[in-house]
Amino acid sequence: MIDEIEKIPNSLVMRDELNFKYYVSGTWKKSSSGNTIIIKNPFNDETVGTVQACSIEEADQVITVAKENLECWGDKTQRERADILMKAAKLMKEWANSLGYVMMKEIGKPLKSAISEITRTSELFEATAEAGLQQEGEAIYGDAFKGFSKDKMSMTYRVPLGVILCIGPFNYPFNLTGSKIAPALMAGNTVVVKPPSQGAISPLFFGLILEKAGVPPGVFNIITGKGSEIGDYLVQHPLINMVSFTGSSKTGQHLASVVGMKPLLLELGGKDAAIVLNDANLELTADAIVSGAFSYSGQRCTAVKRVLPMPGIADKLIELVKKKTMNLSIGDPEKNATIGPLISSEQCDFVQGLIDDALKKDGTLLCGNKREGNIMWPTLIDNVTTDMRIAWEEPFGPILPFIRTHSAEEAIEISNKSEYGLQGMIFTENIDLAFNIAQELEVGTVQINGKSERGPDHFPFLGTKSSGLGTQGIKYSIEAMTRPKVIALNLSEKGKLVKLCKYD
Ligand code: G3H
Repeated sequence: MIDEIEKIPNSLVMRDELNFKYYVSGTWKKSSSGNTIIIKNPFNDETVGTVQACSIEEADQVITVAKENLECWGDKTQRERADILMKAAKLMKEWANSLGYVMMKEIGKPLKSAISEITRTSELFEATAEAGLQQEGEAIYGDAFKGFSKDKMSMTYRVPLGVILCIGPFNYPFNLTGSKIAPALMAGNTVVVKPPSQGAISPLFFGLILEKAGVPPGVFNIITGKGSEIGDYLVQHPLINMVSFTGSSKTGQHLASVVGMKPLLLELGGKDAAIVLNDANLELTADAIVSGAFSYSGQRCTAVKRVLPMPGIADKLIELVKKKTMNLSIGDPEKNATIGPLISSEQCDFVQGLIDDALKKDGTLLCGNKREGNIMWPTLIDNVTTDMRIAWEEPFGPILPFIRTHSAEEAIEISNKSEYGLQGMIFTENIDLAFNIAQELEVGTVQINGKSERGPDHFPFLGTKSSGLGTQGIKYSIEAMTRPKVIALNLSEKGKLVKLCKYD
């Protein structure tokens, strides 16, 4: 691990060996609390490193610094900010292998996926810089409203919200944190990042990257610590102007209840259902389902989490999915096994509870239901009924239920009964029918003949119900992190041109 980190220039400023500091005002510091959080590799329980357990006082200092730097950062030209993001993107590409390696160690993501998470973030930074430069305002005459004339007109443009608190999740600690940082900075906001405890090390490297790319001290800051100790303090702080959070629905609902009157962007859980109609291309469908359900061992909000097949193809589809699932590699993330460790043993216990409940209620086990350490074998359960927990609860693990349905109407009903509304899928050759079903699904996005997924990153990404609040995606995130500013011009008689009009 240390060998990989040492390949990143200047990384010694941010750590003593593997004890990582937090970043404020362009300086790396140890918490005066003297407390640290130990990050363990979920695959083999080895210590990967430690991060600072910062105090409430330190949280206050970090936010104050971000506020103090708001005006000067906002005064930089858009072109200057875009150039900085472009430089940061270049550095991410250069350091992708080492950064991916660190991420693989701390969250157990397959090495190739971890590296591609870094390059995806680099591309997201580039695209955000480009989109930021396209921002436009509008001018409106008053005469469209009764009683007003062209003498009154508005000019509307967008201004930054202020200090944005960015809280990323453990499963995409670099990319989903970056997808908040890039639009926030591009739009002229300053930033405080609070990484998840598990997955805290990778996002710390944003400090090195952005400083080298030219972000002035204090514009971008990172505070590490336990959510239970500083979380509520951070989100409720009066100098925080917006909170952008990705994580569980439970935490999101808590944030929504305590945050007060400030904009909130929440990307939360899902229970994405794949409706498979009788005329679907079953090879394509099975490939999409297996990759959608099991990449990063199902620890994705957009994972395929339920399959609702129609009677004509159910047996054949389930057989195909089983065959492909049993071919998945299982084991060491460093060797790129598709199925690796879940993030914690508590998470494994939760997933096991869902399996046990389904089997107790006569679900049919097709494969899996095996655990070694934090690795859970991919588990398929057929004949799942709506009284089973797995029909409704989000596992965040490698378990996939088949709920056999008899009609598109029944599948729509079961899909919509979920407390979640992130994405839905329809597999069919009948695009007219797919379009009509898509209109009925109460979700943010419906995928036709494809697995549920967030990308490409310029698409709007949102959830309904317990799946979230607000919309992300490059231009949508920029919009969410800015507000309209209106200047109304009231022209007087003075200087009016005399026009002779034949209608007068
Ligand atoms: O876990 C939630 C992520 O937004 C999922 O992103 O669809 O690219 O895996 P993804």
